[in-house]
Amino acid sequence: MISAYPHLIDLNDYPVTWWNGLLRQAEDIIKNPALYADSCKGKIMGTLFYEPSTRTQMSFQTAMLRLGGTIIGFDNPQTSSVAKGENLKDTTKIISGYSDVLVIRHPTVGAAKAAALTAECPVINAGDGGHLHPTQTLTDLLTLKAEKKTLSGLTIGVCGDLLNGRTVHSLCKAMSCYENNHFIMISTKELKMPSYIKDTIRAHGGTFEETHSLEEALPKLDVLYMTRIQRERFASPEEYEAQKDTYILTTQKMKLAKSDMIVLHPLPRVDEIEIAVDDDPRALYFKQARYGMYVRMSLILTMLQSPAKTQLLYGSTHKGVCCQNPKCITNQEYYLPKSFTGTGTTLTCEYCDERLLLEH
Ligand code: NCD
Repeated sequence: MISAYPHLIDLNDYPVTWWNGLLRQAEDIIKNPALYADSCKGKIMGTLFYEPSTRTQMSFQTAMLRLGGTIIGFDNPQTSSVAKGENLKDTTKIISGYSDVLVIRHPTVGAAKAAALTAECPVINAGDGGHLHPTQTLTDLLTLKAEKKTLSGLTIGVCGDLLNGRTVHSLCKAMSCYENNHFIMISTKELKMPSYIKDTIRAHGGTFEETHSLEEALPKLDVLYMTRIQRERFASPEEYEAQKDTYILTTQKMKLAKSDMIVLHPLPRVDEIEIAVDDDPRALYFKQARYGMYVRMSLILTMLQSPAKTQLLYGSTHKGVCCQNPKCITNQEYYLPKSFTGTGTTLTCEYCDERLLLEH
């Protein structure tokens, strides 16, 4: 299925040269903000936030305002017609018809792709459940480029909720496209990185190892990317309680790290980084959030200027076959065309990337 608009659902839908161009433009915006102050004059950005957000939502909003554009949208679907039972398709179709670009965050995996199928303007994925978060990754890439001066040859530790953390999924997929990056995945066995992300890293030629010990990994790292245990993605409060507080970065542990290691975190922090670590010059998470605003300015401009059409679905439907992932959008919005890549017994859902387990 080909859409008439450019969309950003997954960064890996675009070539690395496109990401690099976007980062260069963000750097130019940082240097010359006045040059861009009117670049989106007369344009409207719609923001549909079906899930809580501070940084992503407000950095998108300030980005559009700093480009001279205006904004509409909701940050609580319960104050919109969603509360009356309106489906994703109808809400998206209407608001995209009012807007020049649409930013959507949703608790369900694959929701941004589903929204893009019928949208009447470009759609940007601002996080779809525990799946992907491409604009956080653009933020992370800009931070790494500015602060480490390179996107290659880095040993990157990702720590915490690697199962449900969409930021680390998108980050690992993207960073494995640059040369010689090595990932150390630090998590409990229950919250390990999903296999579809590990497959993508391997396919890009990236390397990784898995450990449960933050202390053992720390001395090897150029970058430590901490994440919050995603309470809202757990099936029960007991399962969350069993995982929380496993990894806490303290000033004591920071002594194990290299003098030029940097600490990133998409935020919000709960208690996985002790507040005292904020005073360590290697703690860059607040600076990282500011880079997010500039990179989103660059992204909005790019989406509004691009004439590109986007292929959203490549695969096909298979009679009687549905995605087995209960968190997939196709299991909530039943009208969506099911679409799978692969053949025979190895089908992959194009909305959530999960492999189906089919019997012969
Ligand atoms: C993250 C998210 O929403 O995935 N936050 C963000 O966008 N900066 C991380 C999180 O919620 O833990």
